Amino acid sequence: MDSIPANRRFWNQFSSAYQHQHDPQIGAAPRLWGTYAVPDAHLRALGDVTGKRVLELGCGAGQWSRALAAEGAAVVGIDLSEAQLAAATRAMGAARYPLVQGAAEHLPFAADSFDLVFCDYGGLSWAPPHLAVPQAARVLRRGGRLVFNVASPWFEACYDEAAGHATTTLQQDYFGLDAIAEDDGVTSYQLTYGDWVRVLRGAGLVIDDLIEPRPDPGTANGYNRTDPPDWAHRWPAETLWVTHKP
Ligand SMILES: C[S@@+](CC[C@H](N)C(=O)[O-])C[C@H]1O[C@@H](n2cnc3c(N)ncnc32)[C@H](O)[C@@H]1O
Repeated sequence: MDSIPANRRFWNQFSSAYQHQHDPQIGAAPRLWGTYAVPDAHLRALGDVTGKRVLELGCGAGQWSRALAAEGAAVVGIDLSEAQLAAATRAMGAARYPLVQGAAEHLPFAADSFDLVFCDYGGLSWAPPHLAVPQAARVLRRGGRLVFNVASPWFEACYDEAAGHATTTLQQDYFGLDAIAEDDGVTSYQLTYGDWVRVLRGAGLVIDDLIEPRPDPGTANGYNRTDPPDWAHRWPAETLWVTHKP
């Protein structure tokens, strides 16, 4: 299934409302991971990027990219949506970086182009991982790292679509997680833990860590409601994969 046209249409239509609602949280400080804005300083997933060639896969308005550019990385942001790229251009600070329109499924870069490929609910949440992961691996140099944050299978399995919040009971099957048809014809992607391991290893990557961000009770989630409110303190809502190309 080719989800690129519908996802591009969706993000073009949604961009303005999305940035209005979420940019204050995503852009509040540099290097905040996920829906609970957990600082990378606590998780230590990305490391020092000074002087590194970095690709943000599905960069949106570039909150991450502009922070890493300001730290001295040679960042490139790629995104499917021209509206999201326009938001990134408007928000670009003094540290300029190039933006490219394209899809995680077909990266328009030569092999061995980057030291780090990463995203936070970016291309690896919105493109089929069996296509996007090998592409990310291809453009990495040997020793380069792929680091990305996605929703956890726990969260997906416990999410009650009708009620619109995460629950403490299983709502949907775990086996068979893959393409998730959302509103407006948009498709997101989620894999079981085993399928993530197979896709990453199949692309020749070594898994160094699987970080499960654990927000403190009371940490706001700007995206999803949960019942109980401290759901993500008790169960892992997100999975932050840390890998490298040997
Ligand atoms: C949730 S945003 C992630 C950006 C930022 N980290 C954030 O949280 O806003 C998802 C981004 O992925 C982009 N996207 C969706 N499908 C994509 C694809 N196949 N390839 C590259 N980017 C894609 C969307 O346009 C959107 O900007």
